[in-house]
This record gives sequence, C-alpha cells and structure tokens, in this order.
Amino acid sequence: MSSMPALQAKNLKKSYDGRFVVKGINVTIEPGEIIGFLGRNGAGKTTTFQMIAGLLKPNSGSVYLGDKNITRFSAPQRAHEGITYLPQESSVFLNATVKNNLRLILEFQYADPEEREKISRRLLKELGLEDLAHQKAYSLSGGERRRLEICRSLVLDPKYLFLDEPFTGIDPLTIIELQKILRTLKEKKISVIISDHNVRDTFKVVDRAYIIDDGQILIEGPPKQVAESPLAREKFLGKDFTLGDEINPYSSSGGRRKTLSPKVSPGKKKNRKK
Ligand SMILES: Nc1ncnc2c1ncn2[C@@H]1O[C@H](COP(=O)(O)OP(=O)(O)O)[C@@H](O)[C@H]1O
Ligand SMILES: [Mg+2]
Repeated sequence: MSSMPALQAKNLKKSYDGRFVVKGINVTIEPGEIIGFLGRNGAGKTTTFQMIAGLLKPNSGSVYLGDKNITRFSAPQRAHEGITYLPQESSVFLNATVKNNLRLILEFQYADPEEREKISRRLLKELGLEDLAHQKAYSLSGGERRRLEICRSLVLDPKYLFLDEPFTGIDPLTIIELQKILRTLKEKKISVIISDHNVRDTFKVVDRAYIIDDGQILIEGPPKQVAESPLAREKFLGKDFTLGDEINPYSSSGGRRKTLSPKVSPGKKKNRKK
C-alpha cells in the first residue's frame, strides 16, 4: 500500500461565460490523509472536486496520480484509478432497501454472487448499517442515508474519496459518528477529502485544510496553522475565531507529507479538554 502515489491537481482553472470561478488551484493529497476544503458558498469547492474527479472539464491545468497524467481520463477511468466523488445531493435509490442499494452497485463491479454477498456484509458492518439492511432508503435519517452513500462509494474501492459537504444537514451527534467513520477510512489508507463551510466540524477530523476563496487557495496547512493565519481570519474565519477543542486529536504526523510547513510540530495535540 505504501506505493500509492499522491494525487495532484496543478493550476486548475474553470470559467463560465468568461467568468473564472476557479482561478488556478494547486492541491496535493497524500495517501491516507484527511483533507478539508473550506470556503464560503460559491468559492469553487464543488467545481474543483468535479474537475479532479473527471466530471467537469477544466479550461486549463492538469491532474496527476503520481507520475501519471490523468487529465484526459473520464470519470469512470478515474474511478478505476481509485478516485471517487460523492456529490452533496443524495444519490441513493429511495425506494430500494439499504441492502439493495448496495447490491445494485455491487452487480456492476463483481460477477460472483458469493463475492458480492461477502463484500455487502463487510461493508454494511463497517458502516454500522447491518440493522438497517432491510429498511427502505426513504425512511433513513439524514446521517443514516449519508452512511449508506459512503458505503456505496466504498464498493468502488476508492483510494481518494471526495465527499462534498458530508456534514451539511446532519445533527451534531451524527456528525461525530461520521467523523469516526472517516477516521476508520484513513486507517485503511483511504484519503478522504471533504468540502464544507463549517470550520469547526471539519477541523476536528482533518490533517490539513485548504481555505478556498473566490476560486483561489488562500492558505493551506494543519488546522492550527490555518486558524492562526491573518489572511484566513480576515477573509473566511472571522477575526474573533479561536480554536478550542476542535483540533483533530487523531491528526497523524507520519512525516511523509512533504507539503507540511516547518511550523508544524509533530505528535499529538495536548490541548484536549473533555
Ligand atoms: N454550470 C454553471 N454555470 C455557471 N456558473 C456556475 C456553474 N456551476 C457553478 N457555477 C458558479 O461557480 C461558482 C463556484 O461554484 P461551486 O464550485 O459550486 O462553489 P462551492 O461548491 O464552493 O459552493 C459559483 O459562483 C457558481 O454560481
Ligand atoms: Mg458546493
């Protein structure tokens, strides 16, 4: 697994009717990182995600997986390379049960029914959906539905999973539940990239965050560093922003992330209050 290459977006730009909404974005994601993409509505988060996942064609710029230039790869080709995008809008079949929602995807991927059943059972267990397997998707709570969506996207065996606003419309306790799930994905060396405008929930789970404003990256770094950035405070966080206990207590500092600033001190954060 250690040979998984980094995913890199280089100078991505996108315009609509002559107006640039993404103005040259550079992103590097290492295997097993949880990354936050934070910015106001309209900042360009979804557009960037979709260009990286191959759903939207950039005006210019490129996407690399290690040394491989995948800029011209279609979305299914990128999915095959391990890059999966989960949209903000719900993508489940409401009239199907949880298990059948999963089965519909599995049938595309695996020919052997026994293998499908095995994977189905494993994934339902991992996402805590076993007890809901026979419930219709329309009857799920917001958090349960989100879990089902993540469960389905794991069928594709992603290495880079882009989640567009996974915490939106979800209650606080369920957000904590989802954060736990994201950490288990990280343990499996899946990189999870989440977009959000809610700083506090995102900072709790990410190793690094990008603040995106008006189609450009303002600053990138670990939550603490971003929170202290005058520019991020002026343009996005607000001048009164302070970090309380929302620094990611699980943040690893494996030493393989080349893009970290030297300001980062390795090791655990100690300012957890309980
Ligand atoms: N298909 C489109 N046509 C024209 N403008 C668009 C289109 N899609 C997005 N935009 C504009 O691009 C900007 C960035 O949108 P988006 O990436 O969805 O932002 P975010 O996800 O950060 O809220 C917004 O101003 C939005 O109105
Ligand atoms: Mg969006």
